Amino acid sequence: MKRRNFLNTSALAGLGLAAGASPANVDPNAGNNCRGTFSMNDNEASIYTDARVRPTKIFHITDTHLSLDDERGAPYQEFSKRMAAAYTSNKHFQTDEALSAEESFERTLETAQKGKADFLALTGDIFSFPSEAAVEWARTKLEATGIPFAYVAGNHDWHYEGMQGGSRELRDTWTVQHLAPMYRGNAPLYAAYDLNGIRFVCIDNSTYEILPEQLAFFREQTEVELPLLLLMHIPLYVPGRTMGFGCGHPDWGEKTDRNYEIERREKWRKEGHTQVTMEFCQAVFNAPNLLAILAGHTHQQSLDIKNGIPQLVSRENACGYYTEVTVTSITG
Ligand SMILES: [Fe+2]
Repeated sequence: MKRRNFLNTSALAGLGLAAGASPANVDPNAGNNCRGTFSMNDNEASIYTDARVRPTKIFHITDTHLSLDDERGAPYQEFSKRMAAAYTSNKHFQTDEALSAEESFERTLETAQKGKADFLALTGDIFSFPSEAAVEWARTKLEATGIPFAYVAGNHDWHYEGMQGGSRELRDTWTVQHLAPMYRGNAPLYAAYDLNGIRFVCIDNSTYEILPEQLAFFREQTEVELPLLLLMHIPLYVPGRTMGFGCGHPDWGEKTDRNYEIERREKWRKEGHTQVTMEFCQAVFNAPNLLAILAGHTHQQSLDIKNGIPQLVSRENACGYYTEVTVTSITG
């Protein structure tokens, strides 16, 4: 599929119309259970599928924590100052050299271009707060690569620390007012992007909770005869994991929320996760056509496997880290 077509169809798919899938890319005999095997070697992951897809190289980029700002951010400094000072100098994950978050992002995009990446999967905390200057800068850099990308927000992207309001309300406000250019007309909370016979599904779980419409949208995707990659910021709970894997953790809630004071935000729900969030976690790990989950948030590399579905968590891109994920058809 040409990039121009991709962008057009992704706009439709982002509205839940799922128009980008080309039936020619789908093996009609595969049903929608198209998982094959997978392997991981340092920051390279290989995913194989029974579905007929074109070989696709994805750069998974998460947690860059960009904080550049200009005069438009002046009225918000009271809410952005702590995070504006974070991740300004980082050690490159391979060379140990000092570099800014901006340099890390630019270098990663250069590597993606040189490596002929087909898609950039951005899974949140690309920004440390919703700075219009940072959003403009990042979008310009991304578009200059000519590589299609999808972005889903993390818990910092829309968060102005100490600002009045609940997390849902603040997310709704700042995804629309400052982060909008990153979505390119698609819905911020859930969207799908089709490329090379693969469907990239974005679900924003940056408040740690899933909304009923997000669950319904994800369920629709599990009925589609295309292999899926699920892009989210916060990884899903896998038995044995700590509270860092908070989405769906049985102990998540007010009593286990340690960071609400430092992040100056409302506490997590007293009652723990909603039923919808728990049903979403079940639906994900039972999705027959889900190849993998790509997430961030923990700033540590990890790989969990549940029901045969790998959850790849990538380290923070603030230090130049990225995961190169290739998807290959085993049917030839
Ligand atoms: Fe982060």
